[in-house]
Amino acid sequence: MLEQKILNIKTRATGDIKKSQSEKGLFDLRVKYLGRKSEFNKILKSLKNLSLEEKKKIGPLANAVKKEIGEEIKNAEKIIKSKINLETEKIDVTAPGKKIKRGHLHPLTIVQNEIEDIFTSMGFEIADGPEVETEFYAFDALNIPKNHPARDAWDTFWLKPMNNEQRTMNNNKPVASDRLALRPHTSPVQARYMRKHKPPFRIIAPGRCFRNEATDSSHEHTFNQFEALVVGDDINAGHFKYVGQEFFSRFFKKELKVRLRPSFFPFTEPSFEFDISCVVCGGKGCSICSQTGWLEIGGAGMVNQTVFEAVGYPRNRYQGFAWGFGVERLAMMRYKIDDIRLFYSGDLRFIDQF
Ligand code: FA5
Repeated sequence: MLEQKILNIKTRATGDIKKSQSEKGLFDLRVKYLGRKSEFNKILKSLKNLSLEEKKKIGPLANAVKKEIGEEIKNAEKIIKSKINLETEKIDVTAPGKKIKRGHLHPLTIVQNEIEDIFTSMGFEIADGPEVETEFYAFDALNIPKNHPARDAWDTFWLKPMNNEQRTMNNNKPVASDRLALRPHTSPVQARYMRKHKPPFRIIAPGRCFRNEATDSSHEHTFNQFEALVVGDDINAGHFKYVGQEFFSRFFKKELKVRLRPSFFPFTEPSFEFDISCVVCGGKGCSICSQTGWLEIGGAGMVNQTVFEAVGYPRNRYQGFAWGFGVERLAMMRYKIDDIRLFYSGDLRFIDQF
């Protein structure tokens, strides 16, 4: 009788388990058939009242059935879980893809690439130098006097003195001073290049520069310059004027004139400031050029023979011109940007316009 009852429970449990469709349903069946208050548990509890002989017969049967029901529930759970996984992990290969937003170059990179393209098409090579520079290359080799204000801490970011490792990296070259600085201009690349190369050559040296000065709409503490250097047997200021005119006309895609005004840089003699005819009004006079018809662009001059001597060339053997200008200033003219600080602001409303 008890035996039959146990077998009946087993039959009902198997039927219910087969019909169950969810994890929750199986959980309920486990409670119903094997839980503390289940009919089956009551039978198990009543086994102690049976005779020894009956116990021997019913006991193993009850345990075997309990185990079988438990296993059937477990197997059914596994099947349901694998079905759920198939549902949630399926990939619809026909679904439309997610569009990835493409980035673009920063306006300064665009301008720098363009400047490099124009110069290389004119036969210039691109030279490079370190942003952390020795006092020798940043100042001494360029004939900048020891007491020049540019060396002061409020114009130049000075770093700690060179250690032995850095001295080795500098090829153990004699240096007038061990002081290191963030370079305030790209002109040190002139000296570095000339120490390793003999004329004739024409190079450009683009790069980041740093000045310890208050920022405003046209001054940044970190900015980019472009240096050009041409040295040979008989290079003169006329060559400079031609290259300048050609470069700016190509950059602004219109015929421009270049004007030289006397100036002073310790590393050039004579030195000039150079202007280009206003890219907006063409030289007639407007608010952009303060009615002068000219825009100030940068500094230039014929390489000082003292610089040639500092890099190991004989005095009066070669002639060359050098010039330097700010990349941000050119980009500002090109895109009509009125504040230099926007370039490094990280403001996407500005950057996304390019
Ligand atoms: C120089 O730095 C010289 N090395 C240029 C030179 C090279 C002269 C070769 C002769 C021969 P200057 O300090 O004027 O010169 O700077 C050149 C240009 O760098 C400026 O015309 C300007 O466009 C840019 N510039 C200078 N300071 C800043 C600044 N704080 N922020 C942005 N641009 C700057």
